[in-house]
Amino acid sequence: MPPAPESSAAPGPAGRGGEDDGITVDGLSMTFGQEPAAVWALDEVSFHVPKGGFTALIGPSGCGKSTILRLLADLLAPTAGRVAISGRPPSALRKQRRIGFVFQEHALLPWRSVVDNIRLPLQLSGRAGRDLASTVGDLISLVGLEGFENSKPSELSGGMRQRVSIARAITLSPEVLLLDEPFGALDEITRQTLNIELLRILAETGTTAVLVTHSLSEAALLADEVIVLSPRPGRVKARIEVPLKRPRTLAMMKTPEFFHTENLIREALFGSSP
Ligand SMILES: Nc1ncnc2c1ncn2[C@@H]1O[C@H](COP(=O)(O)OP(=O)(O)OP(=O)(O)O)[C@@H](O)[C@H]1O
Ligand SMILES: [Mg+2]
Repeated sequence: MPPAPESSAAPGPAGRGGEDDGITVDGLSMTFGQEPAAVWALDEVSFHVPKGGFTALIGPSGCGKSTILRLLADLLAPTAGRVAISGRPPSALRKQRRIGFVFQEHALLPWRSVVDNIRLPLQLSGRAGRDLASTVGDLISLVGLEGFENSKPSELSGGMRQRVSIARAITLSPEVLLLDEPFGALDEITRQTLNIELLRILAETGTTAVLVTHSLSEAALLADEVIVLSPRPGRVKARIEVPLKRPRTLAMMKTPEFFHTENLIREALFGSSP
């Protein structure tokens, strides 16, 4: 038998997946400002998200979760360490608009309709000429906003606005979708519905996702792996694999595997004492 071909999936820093595949975060440290007023936000954070995978980041307020996303999106440069997306620096992907970002508070333009907000990235990237009405139409149906194409953000509910934000973030078919507490301001019912819809959209598009959340159940429901961070400076405290199959359903939230995962996250965050 011929020898097995050498796998390109050599273990990354987190021991999963390969360097050229997905997102690699290697020894990322971040300090804001200068001594004596410097803020040490992150200390040697490493993890790997396989292509098409879903990782959730969870940790106390101020531990550097948003900072990690901003480093992944090339909105900040790290003090030390490295980010690679499909083996390339995030700046290369940002220039090609291959990184989608959904912020906690919707960042829609209030004077633009739903359609015009979703169309914005196409216009900014100079692809408006190829902006076939069907592309935007497909996105509107993908996020379930048919009938609201011409509404302004102020005429939508919070959940609908976040659907527009998601549609806009995936307009240019990004390789990576970064979500910073996208559903934090929503009620539990809307949030759960949108969680399942987000998974459907990601499955349809094959996008690699990193989600910041404060919700243990959201992390367990959505992610393949949950990274638990320590208080500032953020360090990887635990890495918890979620054993639930895909596609995920809300019914899975009643299974022993789900409770077990949630408990592992809780213990990593708060310790095992009652
Ligand atoms: N641009 C900046 N300049 C100075 N300090 C910053 C900057 N951005 C973030 N920080 C500091 O870095 C630390 C981490 O901030 P970050 O926003 O990443 O936390 P977080 O984990 O997202 O918190 P939260 O859960 O409250 O959103 C905080 O102490 C914050 O004050
Ligand atoms: Mg934050």
